[in-house]
Amino acid sequence: MRSIATAIFSFLIVTCAFGRVEAIANDVVFVAGATGRTGLEIVKRLSTDGYAVIAMARDLSKVKEQLPNVQWVEGDVRDVDSLRRGMAGATYVVSAIGSTTTTGPNAPEFVDFAGTRNLADIAKDIGAKQFVMIASGRSGSYTDHSTRSALGYGRYYKTKGEEYVKASGLAFTILGAAGLVQKPKAPMGVRFLSRAEYAATTTSTDEAVIIAIPDVAAIVCAALKDPHARYKAFAIINDPKRPVDAWKNEFALTQSQWP
Ligand SMILES: NC(=O)c1ccc[n+]([C@@H]2O[C@H](COP(=O)([O-])OP(=O)(O)OC[C@H]3O[C@@H](n4cnc5c(N)ncnc54)[C@H](OP(=O)(O)O)[C@@H]3O)[C@@H](O)[C@H]2O)c1
Repeated sequence: MRSIATAIFSFLIVTCAFGRVEAIANDVVFVAGATGRTGLEIVKRLSTDGYAVIAMARDLSKVKEQLPNVQWVEGDVRDVDSLRRGMAGATYVVSAIGSTTTTGPNAPEFVDFAGTRNLADIAKDIGAKQFVMIASGRSGSYTDHSTRSALGYGRYYKTKGEEYVKASGLAFTILGAAGLVQKPKAPMGVRFLSRAEYAATTTSTDEAVIIAIPDVAAIVCAALKDPHARYKAFAIINDPKRPVDAWKNEFALTQSQWP
């Protein structure tokens, strides 16, 4: 497997050949949850956009995707040593992890909370420029989730993970995704909104409130390039009433005090 240094070097050559902006040439994005539906789409998008990517899988033997500028590493967010090895050299950290069980050792408490805490701690240690986290539209500190036992207290532990990231001092962007779909029935715009607004305007059974996974990946990539996306947490939904690309200039309109 090519080293990440080789990947960066190859990218520099490509960059020079096509005269693209060099700002991302030295940037290496670490993606946790890279084997997941959203994480893999983010890895693909980062690769297409020309970033060098370190993609983490819990089991490398299950990785089928070999992509330009992407180095796969094995690791687990519960295992700090594996994170230290995998995240070395990264300049940005993206988390698309999600617990796979509601109870037991990979439940939300240990993945969405403790795993996020481990990622944030090491992101700080390595001096990451930004921490982008895929969260849920329904998590977040706009309300108290401590009595909601559904999905292994999923919202509660996701929110605890978010709160840790917010307090870490890292430049964070927390994206509270609506229901994830591979593709909407028709191209749609995207709306950024506060979690409180999300909760007030949707119900937990409202299947119409979705966000397409390719849109999430595009938002993550744009957030890495836009300083207005930093120190913010907000929900993201598809909105058929909005022009398809309007969101691209709207990080500046979101408010940092949105919980
Ligand atoms: N599904 C929805 O509609 C929805 C809506 C809003 C928000 N969200 C949230 O958005 C995020 C992404 O969702 P998704 O559907 O793309 O998730 P997903 O497909 O279930 O992927 C989860 C990822 O987390 C990884 N993971 C789990 N435990 C781990 C551990 N201990 N160490 C390292 N990696 C671990 C998984 O690795 P393995 O492949 O090894 O299991 C996988 O790569 C999640 O936080 C989810 O809760 C989902």
